[in-house]
Amino acid sequence: MLRFFTVPCLALNPNLILEIGSNNGCRFTKNETAMKEALEKVKREALEAIKTIADLARAKALKAQYLGRKGVVTALLRNISTLPPEERPEAGRLGNVVKQRLEEAFGKALHALETGLGEPRGEALDVTLPGRPLARGRTHPITQVARAICEIFERLGFAIVEGPDVELDYYNFEALNIPRDHPARDMQDTFYISDNVVLRTHTSPIQVRVMESQPPPVCIIAPGKAYRVDSDISHTPMFHQVEGLMVQENISFGDLKGILTTFVHQIFDEETSLRFRPSFFPFTEPSAEVDILCVICRGKGCRVCSRTGWLEVLGAGMVHPAVFEMVGYDTDRYTGFAFGMGIERIAMLKYGIEDIRKFYENDIKFLEQF
Ligand code: DAH
Repeated sequence: MLRFFTVPCLALNPNLILEIGSNNGCRFTKNETAMKEALEKVKREALEAIKTIADLARAKALKAQYLGRKGVVTALLRNISTLPPEERPEAGRLGNVVKQRLEEAFGKALHALETGLGEPRGEALDVTLPGRPLARGRTHPITQVARAICEIFERLGFAIVEGPDVELDYYNFEALNIPRDHPARDMQDTFYISDNVVLRTHTSPIQVRVMESQPPPVCIIAPGKAYRVDSDISHTPMFHQVEGLMVQENISFGDLKGILTTFVHQIFDEETSLRFRPSFFPFTEPSAEVDILCVICRGKGCRVCSRTGWLEVLGAGMVHPAVFEMVGYDTDRYTGFAFGMGIERIAMLKYGIEDIRKFYENDIKFLEQF
């Protein structure tokens, strides 16, 4: 008597129909195609099941379900003997291929779980493919320009020094000849930390700190951040300056002009001429504002230079004797010059940028250009 029976392991394999003989042994329909299909299907399901195994016990149980003495593959192989003689060789060959394939797959899975090494995935690794490029950062344009400025002055013999961003009122104002009630304090809208402590409004306090700490000769530049309560197309609350100071016997305004001319020719080019306009700073006398020939229109007059043909780039002058007295320098013996410039301003002119805020918006597309 024949009846249809679903093999017990086939929670995984509900569609695999085996024909069971009266002798109680499993066997296939005597049809080679059905045998092949059954083997293929068992193989596919077993391989799928192997992928989902997460622990050793489950792996062993699954292996027994397929390859054990009462396993489904074993049952299928056993049934080959019941096929007609001419169908047996091919069915046997196919059965062994499937069995081997599953033994290999279970072997790998068990090994991976036992060693914890993880089973190598099916994906092939092509070692000849180029690696994925790492996104490369770069220095901020302001840092680049600050470095370029420093390099020029270093070649001229200036040493680089730094000072604190959070500064005493004394260094930021008093020692620079800007007393408490002096109107010049209003020129720089100050962030106060407390009554006596400010965020420095310029890098000029570094001049004082350097002179306080050493006798002449002094030949330094001091790059750094400065802070003012100010924000528009040409001002940000935090910005950068470079301060310069040279003190020695016989330093003249001519030395100042020579140094600044060399600097401008190197940071822009030889055709960029300079002009010195009389100005006022409490810590220099005489004081000057230095303009350069407009780098955009070359003096013809354009929007950037407000039709004047000139661009203001820095403040400078001969160190005021009152400042020397504050630091105890002999005003009969020493003279010196000082200057201060905005790094953003130089960068904007160098690269033709009209809005200073671009530097601090962290827009990668903007920053990538430098
Ligand atoms: N500290 C000035 C400012 O921020 C710039 C300056 C002008 C610096 C003249 C100097 C100088 O050293 O001599 O506006």
